[in-house]
Amino acid sequence: MKSFGFTNYGGPEVLQEFEREIPTPKANQVLIKVAAFAINPYDISLRQGKFSQGQPLTTPYYQGTDLVGQIVARDANVTDYQVGDWVINRRAKSGYSQYVTASTNKIMLRPLTLPVPIAASLPSPGIAAYNAWYHFDSVKPSDQVAILGVTGAVGSLLAQIALAAHQPITGIANHRHEKVAREFGIQNFLAYDQLPPTSQWQHQQTIVFNTLLGGNDHGLADKLLAPHSQLISLNDTAVQLTTPDVEKITVAYRRDLTDQAAFEFWTNYLTERSLQIIIDQVRPATLTNLRDAQATLAQHHFGKQVLTW
Ligand SMILES: NC(=O)c1ccc[n+]([C@@H]2O[C@H](COP(=O)([O-])OP(=O)(O)OC[C@H]3O[C@@H](n4cnc5c(N)ncnc54)[C@H](OP(=O)(O)O)[C@@H]3O)[C@@H](O)[C@H]2O)c1
Repeated sequence: MKSFGFTNYGGPEVLQEFEREIPTPKANQVLIKVAAFAINPYDISLRQGKFSQGQPLTTPYYQGTDLVGQIVARDANVTDYQVGDWVINRRAKSGYSQYVTASTNKIMLRPLTLPVPIAASLPSPGIAAYNAWYHFDSVKPSDQVAILGVTGAVGSLLAQIALAAHQPITGIANHRHEKVAREFGIQNFLAYDQLPPTSQWQHQQTIVFNTLLGGNDHGLADKLLAPHSQLISLNDTAVQLTTPDVEKITVAYRRDLTDQAAFEFWTNYLTERSLQIIIDQVRPATLTNLRDAQATLAQHHFGKQVLTW
């Protein structure tokens, strides 16, 4: 089978195609024939070597965390999934492959109404959004909640969670994304590049989620937040806060938060609702397309990059 990865850190040109054996499912694992995988900002940072200090990698390093595909084999102990089931998988690595094995606590069934590119794009942003909303903040019905980066992958999923929980939100993004944000059901939209007079928006939010890629909001959250409020950030980017008594919380890995809990949430969510994630491009999984997809994601971009086998 084919897998993509790298042996040296660097730009998209270090990505290579590798020929590997198809893996065999171990105890409680299934073998998935991957239909599509999605690229995440994390993949770019990893390839660039941004985590090389704390996390030395064995090479070749096979990349990829988020995918969707069909079960083609399973360990004899697996009874809750059948051969032929479509499943969504989040994994530590090796997702840019034609086949992967996965433990059943790392997969969820893909409802067949959920388009393949959206299913491939759900795992990491969906787990992050679920954890941010249910485990890192303390939203009360009386709160004024804003989401910075509301049309991004994590931001849009967070918005959909909030709206399903009947929590009105202010969605913030580039002005070009207002139409899409409104299609998500966001009634209060603020364009960070076309801000109205300050009296209409400054220091009015009691909770701000910063889901911008990289987290640099150029001081906007500080201006949005009221005193005695919460800033929940998807990145641990340092921010200067002048608003008094703001609790800054970073959504980070926590041992007690399992992928399975998030997958159960999304499974229930999808029984009643559809899901939207902006997809920029879906194209065949070739080395050229992968390099281009990662290069696109490293620039200011709008929407997910998905590759299909
Ligand atoms: N802590 C966790 O567990 C966890 C998990 C997943 C993701 N994350 C982090 O959360 C952040 C959002 O992830 P995502 O997948 O939602 O990202 P994304 O969809 O690729 O981007 C989010 C938003 O950031 C803005 N943006 C796009 N390109 C940018 C660039 N080059 N520089 C600055 N801003 C840019 C865009 O908003 P506008 O066009 O409106 O500016 C975009 O909608 C990332 O930093 C990611 O690493 C954290």
